[in-house]
Amino acid sequence: MYGELSPPQRLLLGAGPSNLDPRVLRALTAPMVGHLDPYFLDVLDETSDLLRYAFKTKNRLTMAISGTGSAGMEGAICNVVERGDEVVVCVSGFFGERMLEIVDRCGGKCVEVRADWGEIITKEAVEEALSNSSAKVVWIVHGGTSTGVLQPLRDIARVVREYDSLLLVDAVTSLGGCELDVDGFGIDLCYSASQKCLNCPPGLAPITVSERAMERVRNRETKVQSWYLDLSEIERYWLESNRVYHHTAPLLLIYALREALRLLREEGLEERWKRHERNSLALIRGLEAMGLEVYPKAYRCPALTAVSIPDGVDDQSVRRRLREEYGITISGGLGALKGKVWRIGLMGINSTERNVIVFLEALERVLKREGYPLKLGEGVSAAIEAFARN
Ligand SMILES: Cc1ncc(COP(=O)(O)O)c(C=O)c1O
Repeated sequence: MYGELSPPQRLLLGAGPSNLDPRVLRALTAPMVGHLDPYFLDVLDETSDLLRYAFKTKNRLTMAISGTGSAGMEGAICNVVERGDEVVVCVSGFFGERMLEIVDRCGGKCVEVRADWGEIITKEAVEEALSNSSAKVVWIVHGGTSTGVLQPLRDIARVVREYDSLLLVDAVTSLGGCELDVDGFGIDLCYSASQKCLNCPPGLAPITVSERAMERVRNRETKVQSWYLDLSEIERYWLESNRVYHHTAPLLLIYALREALRLLREEGLEERWKRHERNSLALIRGLEAMGLEVYPKAYRCPALTAVSIPDGVDDQSVRRRLREEYGITISGGLGALKGKVWRIGLMGINSTERNVIVFLEALERVLKREGYPLKLGEGVSAAIEAFARN
C-alpha cells in the first residue's frame, strides 16, 4: 500500500519554486468549470488584464502559455524566428546557454554576445552584433537565475529599436519582484513563469507580445513549427470574443495565477519592487557581515542573491542541514557555478523581513557547526541594522 501524501513544510528560499500564498492555495481548490464556461472566459479576461498590469504594458496579446518558463522560451523563439534567421543571443549565465540550444533547434542561427557569468551584457556588444549580422531579433535574460545579476535593459532596448529589431526578454525570475516596464523599456516580447515572484505552482508561462512582434508572427512565410505553442492559435482561445478551443486550459493554475496577480495588484507593483530591494539589501548586509561574498559585484537581482561558498565549506552538507534542521530550502549553483555558489531567493511573498532574519540565523548556526569561523549573531545584527536604516 502507498501512504497518504504528506510532504514536509518547507520555507522555499531557493531559485524557485517559491511558497504559495494561502489565497493562491484556496484558488487551487475552487470548483472546476468547463474551459469554455462563460465564468471561466471572464477569468481569462481578468487574468490578461492583471498580467498587463504586472508587465506594465498595453499589449493586447498578453496571456499565459500552458507550460513552465521553458515553454515561454520556446514559444517566444518559435513564433518570431523562421528557419535560417539570425538571432542575437545574449549569454551571461545558464539560461543564455539554453537559449542557444532552443534557437538552434528552431532552425535559427545564433549570433552570440557573451559576457562573463556575473557580468552584464553591454549595449555596445549588442550593437556590434546587430551591425555585423542580419539579425532582427535580440534575446536576453533580465533576472539571471544562475548568477544573481539583474540585466539593465533600457539602453539595449534603444539600440535594438535603432536597428529595427525585436527585443525578447526572459523575465522568469524578475516579473513581480524587480523593476520591469515592458512598454517603458521598449520590450517587444516578454515571458515569465508562475512559480517564482508570483508564488504560484509551476505550470504557466505568462507572456506579452507587442503589435510589432505580432506583425512579424503574422507575416511569417512558414507555419510556426510548434502547433501547441503557436501564439496566433492560443490567442484565439485567450483573447478573441469568439473563443475557439485550442487545448484544455489548466483551469486551476489559471485560477491560482489570477489570485496571485490580485495580491500583486493590491500591494502595488512599485511597492512590491521596493520591498524586494529592501529585503535583499538586508540579506546582503547580513551575508557580508558573516564574511561571505555576494557573487555579482554590481547589478544585483533583488529576487535572487548568489553568494560564493567559502573555501573548505561543504556545499551539500550546508544545504542538507538547512533543509533537515530548519526546513529551509536554498539552491546550489547551476552549470559553471555548481559547487561554487548558493542561490537564495526572496521571491514574492517570501521576500519578508522575517524570512531574512530566520534564514540568516539558520545559516549562521549551520556554518558554525560546519567549522566556518564566525561569531553567532553578526549576520543577523547587520541585517537588523540595515532594516533600521531603510
Ligand atoms: C531565467 C530563466 N529562464 C527560464 C527558466 C525555465 O523555467 P522553467 O524551469 O519553469 O521551465 C528559468 C528557470 O528557473 C529561469 O530562471
